[in-house]
Amino acid sequence: MITQNTIQQILSRIDIVEIVGSFVKLKKRGTNYLGLCPFHNEKTPSFTVSPAKEIYKCFGCGRSGNSIGFLMEHEKYSYVEALRWLAAKYNVEIEETETSPEVKQQQLVADSLYIINQYAQKYFTDALMNSEEGRSIALSYLKERGFREEVIKKFQLGYNPDTRDGFTKAALAAQYKLDLLQKSGLVNVRDDNAYDNYRGRIIFPIHNQSGKVLGFGARIIKNNDKAPKYINTPENEIYVKSKLLYGAYFARQAIDKADECLLVEGYTDVVSLHQAGIENVVASGGTSLTPDQLRLIKKYTNNLTIIYDGDSAGIKAALRGLDLALEESLNVKLVLIPDKEDPDSYVNKVGAAAFTRFVAENKKDFILFQLGIALQDAGNDSNRKAQVVNQVAETISKINKAEDFTRQQDYIKQCSELLKIEESGLHALVNKFIREKVSREEGRSFREQQENEKAGTEPMDNLPGDEVTALFNRDEMHEQAMVRSLLEFGLKEWKPGITIAEHVFGEIEENQLDELIDNKELVRILKTYKAWYDAGIEPTAKNFLYHEDLAMSSLVVRIMDFNYEISPNWSEHFEGHIPTRDELYLEEVFSTLNYLKLRKIKRLIDENQRDLERSTTPEDQMVLVQTHHHLKRLEIELTKKLGTVIFR
Ligand code: UTP
Ligand code: MN
Repeated sequence: MITQNTIQQILSRIDIVEIVGSFVKLKKRGTNYLGLCPFHNEKTPSFTVSPAKEIYKCFGCGRSGNSIGFLMEHEKYSYVEALRWLAAKYNVEIEETETSPEVKQQQLVADSLYIINQYAQKYFTDALMNSEEGRSIALSYLKERGFREEVIKKFQLGYNPDTRDGFTKAALAAQYKLDLLQKSGLVNVRDDNAYDNYRGRIIFPIHNQSGKVLGFGARIIKNNDKAPKYINTPENEIYVKSKLLYGAYFARQAIDKADECLLVEGYTDVVSLHQAGIENVVASGGTSLTPDQLRLIKKYTNNLTIIYDGDSAGIKAALRGLDLALEESLNVKLVLIPDKEDPDSYVNKVGAAAFTRFVAENKKDFILFQLGIALQDAGNDSNRKAQVVNQVAETISKINKAEDFTRQQDYIKQCSELLKIEESGLHALVNKFIREKVSREEGRSFREQQENEKAGTEPMDNLPGDEVTALFNRDEMHEQAMVRSLLEFGLKEWKPGITIAEHVFGEIEENQLDELIDNKELVRILKTYKAWYDAGIEPTAKNFLYHEDLAMSSLVVRIMDFNYEISPNWSEHFEGHIPTRDELYLEEVFSTLNYLKLRKIKRLIDENQRDLERSTTPEDQMVLVQTHHHLKRLEIELTKKLGTVIFR
């Protein structure tokens, strides 16, 4: 781990204009910088960088973040990779923390597993190419299936001879430890006897991004009902199935170049397509795609084409993970190979050119494809049809990045045609799912939101542009404003000897935050603020911006506001002095805090009113009426204060 000290050093040197400027041409505009957004196509610049706040924001596509976020988004770096890039740029020497004994132990095991796998891969390749048994049984089988020697070598295929413990003995003689050999899945132990796990099987090594062997898939040669067709490496320190894609190492550059990733089911599909010159292909092993695998693909392309055999059980599994792909803005297409063929057998049958043509001509859009199947299944059953409409609306609602707005509209149009329903109806339904999702993410319950809608504070329709702001309802804007004023002015003076932060947390106890503020993420920010403040750590916006908790830092980025900055041109048009936000901060802190208090009182009044309506005994009613008067008094006082507040 990189030490906190190093991170602080890096952060203290960050110049967001310089960093973003190394990728985007920026021009100074007032206090900010402006350029063409690198994340979406535009002709007039709406990509803004604020050096004062150390954030960027595009008013076209809505993307925003800090320097590290920019590097992660633009260069596809991980958080740590971005830090390393910055350290190199600013000549900060990286200090790593002492790793804990457990982590050290884990690294040791991982290193050993890599070494064992490398040894095993060489052993199996040697057995395939150079042993009598390998050549006559395994190599001849591969050649019969049409694999040529160069592709066999490239993928480092191998063979584990059909002896009880040939590999095990060799590995033990080479000083590899039995427990690690077991962990690697290469060796099994039963009744104190160690023996080879992949006896008599063809070996497909599985490589990581940099070409190291993570594990193996071992295929039986003659299909046999008793034994599984493939035995795969068990999960261990380095083999994590949900994070890898077979063939990724050999496909990276081709995917980049073609700007498309083909996804197939099996090992042999990948190898055969490679041999045919189609190299932008990876395999998932027939299971549904995981978020980690999607992220792996998204590093190289936004276009994913799934090629499965028509009657594969894997299709359903593959489709299952795909709503996730939509959220990640991936463009997903589907091609089904006909006639009980799979990509491997089909490309061998028709050749590379015809295969490529077939894929190009039969690519179906994933959403429309899914809808087609669902409609067929539903038939004339109107109940099930309604379910389909809901399902498709939910799927479309997942396409919700601002830059995908047109895509979403296209889908609504095409799907409503297929469903034979009004476009506007589907539109409304999609928006409903988006709102539900946002309120879930913001930690509010759907019930609360419905109440808000009844009360007339319905969130605005989803508009292109700043999608997030558009979806926040007004209540939430007030909550954000309060947190924003604390983040920006908290360390300033409220009164001599008292900071704004001390004032705010004097006014509201920590355990009251939840009652005052609906958005649980904002509450989390306030609680962190208080904890930092009490511990003597400066709770500045900047420290939040670089908080390792990305949910928190990106919310801070969203609530930091560019709009308040007054253009320097203004002063040319107006006589006299325009007070800035910085000058009016006392008023801002006062009014944002008290607005929330007022809202809470109003809610209490409503609640009390409801209790009153339900109350049955005169005693209860009297207490409730008194409470009502008390609350009303508080409300009036607060309203007066809010209306008449004048500082200086
Ligand atoms: P398939 O049964 O389609 O095998 O399984 P295949 O890759 O086409 O192999 P050949 O052409 O018959 O030789 C597809 C994938 O599912 C996983 C493997 O990753 C396989 O490549 N699988 C299948 C297993 O992990 N275990 C099994 O028993 C079967
Ligand atoms: Mn096959």
